[in-house]
Amino acid sequence: MPTILGIESTCDETGAAVVIDGRTVKSNVVATQVELHAKYRGVVPEIASRAHIENILPVIEESLEKAACGFADVDAIAVAHRPGLVGSLLVGVTSAKTLAWSLGKPLIAVDHVHAHLYSVLLDSAVSPQLPAVGMVCSGGHTALYDVRAWDEVELIGSTIDDAVGEAYDKVAAILGLGYPGGPIIDKLAALGDPNAVQFPRTYLSRESLDFSFSGLKTAVLYHVRGVPGRGESGATLTEQHLRDVCASFQAACVDVLVKKLRRALAATGGRSVIIGGGVSANRGLRAALATFDVPVYFPPLAYCTDNAAMTAGLADVHYRVGRFASLDLDAVTYSAFAK
Ligand code: KG4
Ligand code: ZN
Repeated sequence: MPTILGIESTCDETGAAVVIDGRTVKSNVVATQVELHAKYRGVVPEIASRAHIENILPVIEESLEKAACGFADVDAIAVAHRPGLVGSLLVGVTSAKTLAWSLGKPLIAVDHVHAHLYSVLLDSAVSPQLPAVGMVCSGGHTALYDVRAWDEVELIGSTIDDAVGEAYDKVAAILGLGYPGGPIIDKLAALGDPNAVQFPRTYLSRESLDFSFSGLKTAVLYHVRGVPGRGESGATLTEQHLRDVCASFQAACVDVLVKKLRRALAATGGRSVIIGGGVSANRGLRAALATFDVPVYFPPLAYCTDNAAMTAGLADVHYRVGRFASLDLDAVTYSAFAK
């Protein structure tokens, strides 16, 4: 039963976790930087990497403490080395390499997007039927995958502009709500009418598995502020109208995600659906997929947003086949599955 220490620093969360057997999460510590970035309504890379440097060692120590183990009990050190912000990634990669070298333990390199899919297995006994269609929807990614095995994943569609979580964050900024926008819009949407405003659904060409959310974001902007050059003043946002805009925006996002999942299932013959990433916490998406054509697997809420448990979990797959990284491992800003 391998015990793996995972490290996550791809974006704006510093994480460390101890996972046994790829399933049992003994600890999962996340130092969030949300407050540091909130006033900019988005992640500022330089601020993120500095905060990672401050947080990484205390977070690793706390993860071992919470798991009631020491470095000697750990079989391997895993790190998400791609994709992400390069300054952020370097902090995790350097820490993991230093630990692996000084402790004489194997180093395992994990793809962060791939790990988001693996998160459905954490603290759970489920075994999704493969091949599956994977969908990672987060602040940085909206992508579909043909998952033939946990280490055999092919990208089959991705966003051509904004990621869906990014659209949530930008729409929240337009509406004067806080950051990150997803959880706030999700909450307000539950109180609004999803049919109040007919926002556009962008499906691209008939068979396309790619996504586009920038038109939807602009439609919300024009609805609220008026179309430029037309002398409109835009909508008056009463409390109820704000809720209706959130519900209608969420309905448009969910419709697109669900339709693309259906297309991907038809294209790949997938037998189940695996969802990961911050937007997989969305209540509207979970409700829409509660009854679906094939079984749908969501991660436990604690593992939807960035965390190191999913890194340590997926590393178990690599550990079992002896797929170790060398000490010249580098940070890579793009995913292994980029087109
Ligand atoms: O996976 P994640 O922590 O970071 C990235 O790798 O990007 O995802 C963060 C994103 C943010 O854009 C946030 O607004 C969105 O996930 N998010 C949500 C919800 N919770 C977080 N979006 C919609 N509904 C939610 N409940
Ligand atoms: Zn992520």
